[in-house]
Amino acid sequence: MKSDDSVWVFGYGSLIWRPDFPYLEKRTAYLPGYERRFWQGSHDHRGTPEAPGRVVTLIPSDGARCIGTAYLLEADTVHQTFEQLDFREKNGYERFEVKLDLEDGSALAALIYIATEDNFAYAGETPLHELAEIIARSSGPSGANKDYLYELANALRSIGAHDPHIYELDALVRALDS
Ligand code: SIN
Repeated sequence: MKSDDSVWVFGYGSLIWRPDFPYLEKRTAYLPGYERRFWQGSHDHRGTPEAPGRVVTLIPSDGARCIGTAYLLEADTVHQTFEQLDFREKNGYERFEVKLDLEDGSALAALIYIATEDNFAYAGETPLHELAEIIARSSGPSGANKDYLYELANALRSIGAHDPHIYELDALVRALDS
């Protein structure tokens, strides 16, 4: 049963295709003013401290909006879910509260993990061909970096996302991988 104290989590990266926590409902949603970029280093999931891979974060961008998936958490699993997510997203991400737009024109408050440019693992703006090379060669405890990209691109296609950064990178890495 939904109430005013419902807790929603918004995912724009691996949380779209592998939430790995129980939820009551999921909805496609948009975060205004942000764009998704593979500008965050991954030392713990898709790379190592010696050879970091890349994962997505959000960068502020006037007029943009980032599509993703919002999950409504079950009240009695909220605490445990955030404990798990804080651990999973520990490589530079912080939790923020944001307002999402939904397709029916309504709005939703949600929690989100963003790796801002002042975190230790932030790699920053990188040309696409360099990103493709890093992603093609990297892997870590959670698997190959390219699989993170492929899963994300597939998930974004399935929700009808317009995201040239991700789709161009997907094509470049598939070309290197063939
Ligand atoms: C997210 O998916 O919302 C955060 C970044 C990630 O875990 O890939």
